[in-house]
Amino acid sequence: MTTTFSDAEFTYISDMVRTRSAIVLEPGKEYLVEARLAPLVRELGLESIGALVTKLRQGNGGLAEKVTEAMTTNETSFFRDVAPFQALRTLVLPSLVETRKVQRSLRIWCAASSSGQEPYSIAMTIEDDFPQLRGWNLQIVATDLSPAMVERGRSGVYKALEVNRGLPAPMLIKYFTKVGVDYELKAEIRSMVDFSELNLIGAWPAFPPFDIVFLRNVLIYFDVETKRTIFGRVKRLLAPDGFLFLGAAETTMNIDDGFERLPIERAGCYRRTH
Ligand SMILES: C[S@@+](CC[C@H](N)C(=O)[O-])C[C@H]1O[C@@H](n2cnc3c(N)ncnc32)[C@H](O)[C@@H]1O
Repeated sequence: MTTTFSDAEFTYISDMVRTRSAIVLEPGKEYLVEARLAPLVRELGLESIGALVTKLRQGNGGLAEKVTEAMTTNETSFFRDVAPFQALRTLVLPSLVETRKVQRSLRIWCAASSSGQEPYSIAMTIEDDFPQLRGWNLQIVATDLSPAMVERGRSGVYKALEVNRGLPAPMLIKYFTKVGVDYELKAEIRSMVDFSELNLIGAWPAFPPFDIVFLRNVLIYFDVETKRTIFGRVKRLLAPDGFLFLGAAETTMNIDDGFERLPIERAGCYRRTH
């Protein structure tokens, strides 16, 4: 694939994206930059990505954010990878229901929630299988770098293709309403999830501790030092008996020995060691 930018322009974009999001774009990813930025170049009526870089160098307000957002990978699905959600249903939630039965409070953070399928999968699991949590102070916080993804998540509206990926048919029937060609999550599930923008390498609000953190399929884009920093920050926010879920290709091993992996196949579920 031919690209419409020089090596120096590629370096400019990759440095900028890394500073703003921690996403690492190594040489060889030129094709990805070309594919992801082409729609933005068209939308702005520019001739090439080279012209986009010229605009960025001039300090065009808001453009750097748009470019960074365009370089995020937002791939997700309902009940992605299955095993983490089985672990959530059969082990993690039963354990927390027991240990939190006096304070009746449960806090869950989905820290790179993309278009919302992940936090809503958690919400539907709770609604379906943990009626005893009704009346508890239950909070599901969903955050993402991308304002567009946060907005999509908040809307709770999904395409047929999206609800056909991973969502069990009974849940589609029970929790969605067909609106035109799309499917809208019912308010009872939407209201369980609180969406907001958050950059994992920026300042975090003063969150109270979480009992469960989903941090899946985002650290994979970062360098080791950034992963280590984020694990450290997550550890300080995770209750000592809380649970951390990582993506299938992610691990704390050799990065932070403050976590140990539970022996549940393919669940990517970790607990604090200290
Ligand atoms: C591949 S999706 C993962 C979605 C979901 N967790 C899953 O596993 O299906 C990665 C998400 O991370 C977000 N992201 C990338 N860099 C980020 C950062 N620095 N802070 C917060 N979110 C970020 C992207 O916007 C994207 O929505």
